[in-house]
Amino acid sequence: MLLSGALHYFRVLPEQWTQRLSMLRAMGLDTVETYLAWNLHEPEPGRFEFGGRADVGRFLDLAAEAGLDAIVRPGPYICAEWDNGGLPSWLLADRSARLRCHDPEYLAHVARYFDAVLPPIVERQRTRGGNVVMVQVENEYGSFGTDRRYLEWVRDALLERGVDVPLVTSDGPTDHMLTGGSVPGVAATANFGSDPETAFATLARYRPDDPPMCMEFWNGWFDHWGERHVTRDAADAADVLDRILAAGASVNLYMAHGGTNFGTTAGANLGGAESTGAYQPTVTSYDYDAPIDERGAPTAKFHAFREVLAKYQRREIPEPEPLPPLLPAGSVRLDETLRLLDVPAASVVETAEPPTFEEMGLHHGLALYRTEIPGPRQAYDLHLDGLADRAHVYVDGSLAAVLERSGETSTPVAVEGGSASVEILVESMGRVNYGPRIGDRKGLVGGVRHERQFLHGWTTATYPVDDVSGLPWGAPDTAGRGPVFHRGVLTVDEPRDGYLVLPGWTKGYVWVNGFCLGRYWDRGPQRTLYLPWPLLRAGGNELVVLELDGVADPVAEIRTAPEL
Ligand code: GLA
Repeated sequence: MLLSGALHYFRVLPEQWTQRLSMLRAMGLDTVETYLAWNLHEPEPGRFEFGGRADVGRFLDLAAEAGLDAIVRPGPYICAEWDNGGLPSWLLADRSARLRCHDPEYLAHVARYFDAVLPPIVERQRTRGGNVVMVQVENEYGSFGTDRRYLEWVRDALLERGVDVPLVTSDGPTDHMLTGGSVPGVAATANFGSDPETAFATLARYRPDDPPMCMEFWNGWFDHWGERHVTRDAADAADVLDRILAAGASVNLYMAHGGTNFGTTAGANLGGAESTGAYQPTVTSYDYDAPIDERGAPTAKFHAFREVLAKYQRREIPEPEPLPPLLPAGSVRLDETLRLLDVPAASVVETAEPPTFEEMGLHHGLALYRTEIPGPRQAYDLHLDGLADRAHVYVDGSLAAVLERSGETSTPVAVEGGSASVEILVESMGRVNYGPRIGDRKGLVGGVRHERQFLHGWTTATYPVDDVSGLPWGAPDTAGRGPVFHRGVLTVDEPRDGYLVLPGWTKGYVWVNGFCLGRYWDRGPQRTLYLPWPLLRAGGNELVVLELDGVADPVAEIRTAPEL
């Protein structure tokens, strides 16, 4: 019986892995589960990253030191509210790319990734004296497709690279998901948040001989921008946990500790019963209302789970270590400014039709698309077909509209003289990570029409948001429009955790000493951004904010409690 909890190394700074892992042990768990995030490890085709937050081998070693075994779920697709479900955005540069099926080009990319990512896992297996005790094949494949040949290929790819601990699949506990997602010779597990008795009965009908396991016990949930913050009652969740364990099943708490979708790593969903409806971008926090909160502190759910786990855990359960104090409350003025459009673009391309972000090699950020509409002509609707995800439209240099995917995507434009210049500044939000519409390209994906007529002849400039180290602060304001970078200094006595909030600001991105904390948006529900202590140093710390819509009083605040 595995008493496991999910904790993704890629959602926690490496300096904090040990504290988070020790909290899993202190809750009564003996195993940690993590996905592997392909898009973190292979940011460009063939260029691999295994340092810092991507050092999964070190994470597994620290888990072993904390007394935890490990379940590894390498994907290649992981869902996880993570951009594109972990599939690198560069896969989408090819408009005909096929994902999650037995397609030779896709499989060649997966093979190269597995060659790079599996060695640190394989050498740490229990069979070789390490702590890795289980590896998962794909992720909830039954929620996506029926390509048995593909699933068998993934299974064989793991075996061929030396995986010899038990393999599992995991799926929703329904007939169609289990039939689509399970594969011969691999134990099936189920994912659910309630009613364990029915779930295990369904699983047992398919796999009477597989030991029962809930691979994802959803004891909390995640949030989307513009929706209400979701929580799950601790007593109710503890009751379901008790019933899972009373059934003699293994469990993996999803999540034990959620962490943070730093930078542009958050994914998105599409609403509706079949996940094909309105676009719902996921917020920056991945607190998940988990038993161990975003800062690593125990919650009421932690204590309720600890009581339940103590009934089943044969090892001694250590007491949780207290956390150091938080930063004192305070405020920082960000007086220095720089227009985004005064920053040299990372690239400029000229094309007949508007390119996608992926075609331009832009993972996330902003792109300015420019063209001319020949005139004169009366006011017709300018349509941004397939807008992903939000756009500021400028006509002859003035803001004409702010448009949004799943909202208003057109605006009337008249041309009085010989021509009008149209500039469309598009910002990307997370790529859909779940359902039939994964492979969510960004930009002006379906072209731009004036009435029925496509507009051609585009010049497009890209502005990635991953690196703000070389910004030309001090450059004069020549652009006169568009998003503005603001800079200020946060002075601290000692590096401590804090919660950063941007009251009166609208939407954008925040960096602390060059590290992108993530997106903020006044739409909520998330108000505060978790600011982890390893990003700070005693003395002055650079705070940069890119504000997309404008702010009257550029002040950031540090608070002592989260508001999610
Ligand atoms: C599914 C996926 C997970 C995660 C959860 C919801 O179970 O397998 O990766 O997306 O849904 O949090």
